[in-house]
Amino acid sequence: MALVTTKEMFEKAYAGHYAIGAFNINNMEIIQGVVRAAKSQNSAVILQVSKSALEYANPLYLKAMVDAAVAETGIDIALHLDHGPNLETVKKCIDAGFTSVMFDGSHYDYEENVAKTKEVVEYAHSRGVVVEAELGQLAGVEDDVNVDAANATYTDPDQAVDFVKRTGVDSLAIAIGTSHGAYKFKGDAKIDFERLEKITAKLEEAGFHNYPLVLHGASSVDQESVETCNKYGAKINGAKGMPAEMLREAAKMGICKINIDTDLRLAMTAAMRKSFAEKPEAFDPRGYCGAAREYIQEIVTRKIETALGSKDSMK
Ligand code: G3H
Ligand code: 13P
Ligand code: ZN
Repeated sequence: MALVTTKEMFEKAYAGHYAIGAFNINNMEIIQGVVRAAKSQNSAVILQVSKSALEYANPLYLKAMVDAAVAETGIDIALHLDHGPNLETVKKCIDAGFTSVMFDGSHYDYEENVAKTKEVVEYAHSRGVVVEAELGQLAGVEDDVNVDAANATYTDPDQAVDFVKRTGVDSLAIAIGTSHGAYKFKGDAKIDFERLEKITAKLEEAGFHNYPLVLHGASSVDQESVETCNKYGAKINGAKGMPAEMLREAAKMGICKINIDTDLRLAMTAAMRKSFAEKPEAFDPRGYCGAAREYIQEIVTRKIETALGSKDSMK
């Protein structure tokens, strides 16, 4: 068994109307919690690493632990660079053995995003690595998005087709109303399903059959985790995320990869705070880190069942 790319995962996900979870990893407990949940559900999974995670943990350690996860579980696992800022970081990850990379040029103007993405695609493809890019701006924490703002920042369906055509990128992250972090919506959760439908239809019309789209900022901000954090001393107020049913819906409309980081952070913090509060005399890290690993496994298992639908996606 070895790490795989996301190619086959996405083909099966699109056809099966489900999404593969892409979970941000920073340490051993997160990796083990995520892959053990995926194994228990017989589901493929993507483990992704941000630039700050690379700096925190060192790609050598992360790669070695992810190889161990493949050996332990035998499930399909892709190792992915999340929000790669430049070609240099992309190269570092490919050299370290990552099977998938994201180049995030969404903050550049359109032509620059096209040119830089194309360069990354050429480099990655010549080494058998797949590429995700991003088009459009995810909403900010406090953004109240009206129609004009949505048109200015969300992904334009025609531009998405042009972008895929010109860059040859393997999957595309789109902006349809989600945002990173724990404070996604002030009122009800809203995403632009109509725009998603248009993007999917236009890509199909243009000959990109079953083209995989990616949803960032897709944590549900599990309220049980938030309440546990707050019960044991945290101050996380007004946090709100993407309801599982909306994610499930998006997964039936061409979203093949759903990114989750905040939910893991909340789960880890909740479990550790609870452990510290309930066992004030304990100081063995295996106690509270173990509790965090177990809770992450529980949260990811639930997510596969309710939001992703990827149960039994392994052949
Ligand atoms: O989308 C970003 C991820 O949540 C990673 O965050 O840069 O703090 O590791 P980070
Ligand atoms: P969340 O903050 O919603 O978990 O999003 C994570 C993400 O998009 C990582 O790229
Ligand atoms: Zn993201």
